[in-house]
Amino acid sequence: MLVRPFSPHDVALAAHLSDLEGWGVTADKYESLVHFDPHGCFVGEVDGEPVGMVLAISYGKLGWISTLVVKRPYRGCGYGSTLLATAVAYLLDHGARTVGLDAPPDVADLYVHAGFTPLFDILYFRGLPALGAGAGNASILAFRARDLHAVTMFDWACFGANRERVLRALLRLSPVALLAQDEAGVAGYLLARRSHDHWTIGPWVCTRLADALLAQALAAIGPEPVRLGVPATNESALHLVRTRGLEQYYREVRMYQGDPEGVGHPETIYAVAASEKG
Ligand SMILES: CC(C)(COP(=O)(O)OP(=O)(O)OC[C@H]1O[C@@H](n2cnc3c(N)ncnc32)[C@H](O)[C@@H]1OP(=O)(O)O)[C@@H](O)C(=O)NCCC(=O)NCCS
Repeated sequence: MLVRPFSPHDVALAAHLSDLEGWGVTADKYESLVHFDPHGCFVGEVDGEPVGMVLAISYGKLGWISTLVVKRPYRGCGYGSTLLATAVAYLLDHGARTVGLDAPPDVADLYVHAGFTPLFDILYFRGLPALGAGAGNASILAFRARDLHAVTMFDWACFGANRERVLRALLRLSPVALLAQDEAGVAGYLLARRSHDHWTIGPWVCTRLADALLAQALAAIGPEPVRLGVPATNESALHLVRTRGLEQYYREVRMYQGDPEGVGHPETIYAVAASEKG
């Protein structure tokens, strides 16, 4: 297999591979994903036919991998491992000391094989949330573009890497964008964006005021279904989403390779951004 860099034309290939897996990720979505790190995306070709791909995002000391896929007839020949190794090598070359990813449970073994260690499960919840009380807290403010630097610094301490590019893009896509701020400074933030027939909440990252942020976000979203991915180790987050009547429907495994310092403070992650971004 020849591994080559992703070109702008490959977004159609990416959408096609996604369709074959039933992931439902559109070419537009791949275009924006590739934009985060255009040099970190790779296509595998056999006799000139594209047979697989992988995406990587360098956040500096932390690198993120997603969308590892090989067309069905070509599986079991080592191509997936080669694509994964290419993405890891790219991230290490760009300063990563830790590499992370979110794996579907049935593929986690492949990553263990490649040197990744499971860190925690991410439990995906969905449903029409009970609104309840708690909205209208004076510490919950609109998260505006001018807050991006302060939020990026806060997120860096919690997530373990500078996600400024991703946060900027997500902020543009998120009609519900909230910042929790008290006398000690930024206490958390939450973004929520429309996806098809529901709202996706995430990232939702907090050291304080998590309940008030969620209450305000749900009040802003109104009576519409929501989805979010919560680290299984964050008991406080699990309690908050279960109290709202949301139900678990899916699970992924967050895995890391390299320096454990790079994993940040998972107890501050109430909802992940997305499998592709961490
Ligand atoms: C996961 C995937 C990319 C693997 O591609 P592949 O080319 O078949 O992988 P390889 O041939 O390099 O296999 C590497 C090793 O992982 C194992 N493996 C492959 N697919 C696996 C799976 N789904 N679960 C567990 N182990 C798996 C192989 O047995 C092999 O082990 P070995 O080295 O002891 O023989 C491919 O199965 C795929 O596209 N799956 C659907 C998409 C997906 O779920 N991607 C991962 C989430 S982003």
